[in-house]
Amino acid sequence: MNILNKISCSLLLTLIGAAGVAGEAYAQSAVEISRGHELFINRGCYLCHGTVGQGGIAGPHLVPDTLPAEAFLAFVRRPPSEMPPFSEKIMSDAELHAVHAYLSSLPKSPTADSIKLLPKPVGK
Ligand code: HEC
Repeated sequence: MNILNKISCSLLLTLIGAAGVAGEAYAQSAVEISRGHELFINRGCYLCHGTVGQGGIAGPHLVPDTLPAEAFLAFVRRPPSEMPPFSEKIMSDAELHAVHAYLSSLPKSPTADSIKLLPKPVGK
């Protein structure tokens, strides 16, 4: 094998390795997101915040503009007012990170202007 072949061969192996790592990270985050979704439902967050965090009668929307992870965890551990606190005994940090990953993965709703079937507001 000449030197050029050796170089391109090792470059190829590096690229394959990098793709493998990226694929793994993607698979891991997909698992975390679906775990977060499950927790959001079965720990009852959805009861106040809506099934996809859109907000409900008892709680504000959590999507879009989800708090950064650190603030999100701090809030859930010690809510300042009406929300019941969720201690480490009820939900671990890893579980709350999964819920955060889930909420952060949800797309923003389309703007009313972009929905063709909606009537245009008067004056527009
Ligand atoms: C009984 C109703 C209720 C449940 C259940 C509940 N929340 Fe809340 N949540 C609230 C209310 C009410 C507020 C806003 C009032 C406040 O400041 O406490 C809030 C606020 C929040 C906020 C701050 C939002 C912001 O942008 O300021 C976060 C984050 C949050 N909740 C996450 C969660 C998560 C995660 C769960 C489930 C583990 C959960 N909540 C379960 C009622 C609830």
